[in-house]
Amino acid sequence: MTSSTAHPESTTHNPGRGDGEAVGIAILGHGTVGSEVLRLMEEHSDSLAHRIGGRMELRGVAVSDLEKPRLGVSRELLTDDAMTLINRDDVDIVVEVIGGIDYPRRVVLAALKAGKSVVTANKALVAAHADELAAAADAANVDLYFEAAVAAAIPVVGMLRRSLAGDQIERISGIVNGTTNFILDAMESTGAAYGDALAEATRLGYAEADPTADVEGHDAASKAAILASLGFHTRVNFNDVHCEGISKITADDISAASSAGYVIKLLAICERITDAEGNEAVSARVHPTLVPKEHPLASVNESYNAIFVEAEAAGRLMFYGNGAGGAPTASAVLGDMVGAARNKVHGGRAPGENTYANLPVADFGAVHTRYHIDMDVVDRTGVLAELAAKFAVRGISLKTVRQEESGEHSRLIVVTHSALESDLSATVDELTNSPDVKAVNSVIRLF
Ligand code: HSE
Repeated sequence: MTSSTAHPESTTHNPGRGDGEAVGIAILGHGTVGSEVLRLMEEHSDSLAHRIGGRMELRGVAVSDLEKPRLGVSRELLTDDAMTLINRDDVDIVVEVIGGIDYPRRVVLAALKAGKSVVTANKALVAAHADELAAAADAANVDLYFEAAVAAAIPVVGMLRRSLAGDQIERISGIVNGTTNFILDAMESTGAAYGDALAEATRLGYAEADPTADVEGHDAASKAAILASLGFHTRVNFNDVHCEGISKITADDISAASSAGYVIKLLAICERITDAEGNEAVSARVHPTLVPKEHPLASVNESYNAIFVEAEAAGRLMFYGNGAGGAPTASAVLGDMVGAARNKVHGGRAPGENTYANLPVADFGAVHTRYHIDMDVVDRTGVLAELAAKFAVRGISLKTVRQEESGEHSRLIVVTHSALESDLSATVDELTNSPDVKAVNSVIRLF
């Protein structure tokens, strides 16, 4: 077992400056989130000062376009020179709400190296470069907070870092992308096709002009990497997460799922798995999933997020709320700013990264899953037995088989018991190539 970055909550090198000291804030970015952070910071400045033991004072806001009109921030506080702002002696905390990876990585690393605590809402940055950022925070003995990076206002990072720090997490399953949940929910409730539901999500401002990061699961995969790292004390990066999006889900899939008692959700699933020899590993994956209608995650509608945690002692917990948007994201950012400011005033550090468990990340093929397979097959005596044999040969047990007339073919819907993903996927390849199977219409995993 190797130990990675694991700082103690020590006050040795950060004794704090004492009650009443102002804490200098630099904000990088003034978009939907940055402007809300500023508004709330000003509106509640007195209360926040009491909670911190000192006032937060804004030293500047770095933006890329100084000409753009900015409400709620005076002209003299704006700058397009983020590096100079970060390095000012009177800046203690740098808040990164820009988005993207390369430029935020440079400025966040510069801030940490300059001894500033950092609060970021940037999931893509944390999921891609957590080791480097955590090492820089440790080297400078400052805080790195990123509550807003996963499900915005839902306090899931703090919950894993602090509240469940004494428990053994077994599985974290989350609806962590509001855009895809809105689309799937619209398809479910109105019978709309995927393209129409996506167009509606775009019209209402949930989906971006280029919706790829949301609909192909990349945004959820970044969040899964962060959740798995925190939950299993093991570094899991974006590239370790198996990722499938929702763009191939059809109205037919939704209605077939509904008649069988399921709703389709895009789930981020992070779990500790143990192989036949007792070796542990971590799995992190994002894919459309059939969730039984009676499961609490099935009732998470519209653009809401929810994270369902299964832990050894705590049992089953669910956290629900707004996972995106200016004010909900700003709430999480401000919570982190208060934590970082308290530490500047009173000393100590926030719970940091701890990857002591250093478990291997399992290949997706080594995970146990269950499949719901919808296919058109030749309507001929003996076909069912021949197809069932293709599952049996790999030791895959079938839970239910439903057959319906479908024109000149039969529609066969098979639900398997739990089996190795690699065996299930190889069986689907065989079915796809079988002359008895006219089409595999869809393959969706079950929760
Ligand atoms: N685009 C994300 C969502 C929010 O739809 O949930 C930011 O991660």
